[in-house]
Amino acid sequence: MSKNPIGIFDSGVGGTSIWKEINNLLPNENTIYLADSKNAPYGQKGEEKIIDLSIKNTELLLKKGCKIIVVACNTATTNAIEVLRDRYSIPFIGIEPAIKPAALQTQTKAIGVLATKGTLTSDLFHMTTDLYSNGIKIIERVGEGIVPLVENGRIDSEEMKGLLHTYIRPMLEANIDYLVLGCTHYPYLIPQLVNLLPKHIKIIDSGEAVAKQTKTILERNELLNTLTVHSKHQFFTNANNMNVIESLLGMDYNVSFLDF
Ligand code: DGL
Repeated sequence: MSKNPIGIFDSGVGGTSIWKEINNLLPNENTIYLADSKNAPYGQKGEEKIIDLSIKNTELLLKKGCKIIVVACNTATTNAIEVLRDRYSIPFIGIEPAIKPAALQTQTKAIGVLATKGTLTSDLFHMTTDLYSNGIKIIERVGEGIVPLVENGRIDSEEMKGLLHTYIRPMLEANIDYLVLGCTHYPYLIPQLVNLLPKHIKIIDSGEAVAKQTKTILERNELLNTLTVHSKHQFFTNANNMNVIESLLGMDYNVSFLDF
């Protein structure tokens, strides 16, 4: 058992969607969240840069005493998690687009995947799609421009609606019945997407699965916090967007600026 915090990082504000799932499932756990918003979006950067940034975030969370690290970013997971696991001895939990459940359940044999360029071009993503694409059409779209709008708190803007419309159209033409959200910024767009998509199309993301996996790995390593009554949550960002994160959290938490 350990009272040390769970460390969570993302390229920016999107990983708070994962933080919420973790906090729901593991309310006893203390957490530290890092939003590397100064360097967002990661999705347009090369693998080497994404690895460097992931190492920087990890080092800070380790300095703060985290017992496990959740890479709450598909782009960082698909490009850097193997390096992180090789380099550090604590457990890492990653997030990847939920291709498997969509591929197993699709009736129309067509699924859509919306993710960043960094995720869609990664080896890990190609390995997963190769495994599950047998007899299934996977329509991939880079959600270019979405992450910066979410980072700026412009979720409900007309610009966002226009981008989503553009990216979804070829998927509708291909008759998808599952849309996989492959970026942790995207769950905040679900209300918009529900308005744009026909009712039979199911939207799936990996947030809940990541929280369950975090619990499993904490249990397996005897690190689960069974003692804390009032858990402590710290949120840090290295850009001037504290208010965006506070409003996404939708609860009474303070977000602090930290130059990392
Ligand atoms: N939340 C990150 C992800 O899951 C966004 C990537 C980006 O910064 O482009 O991929």
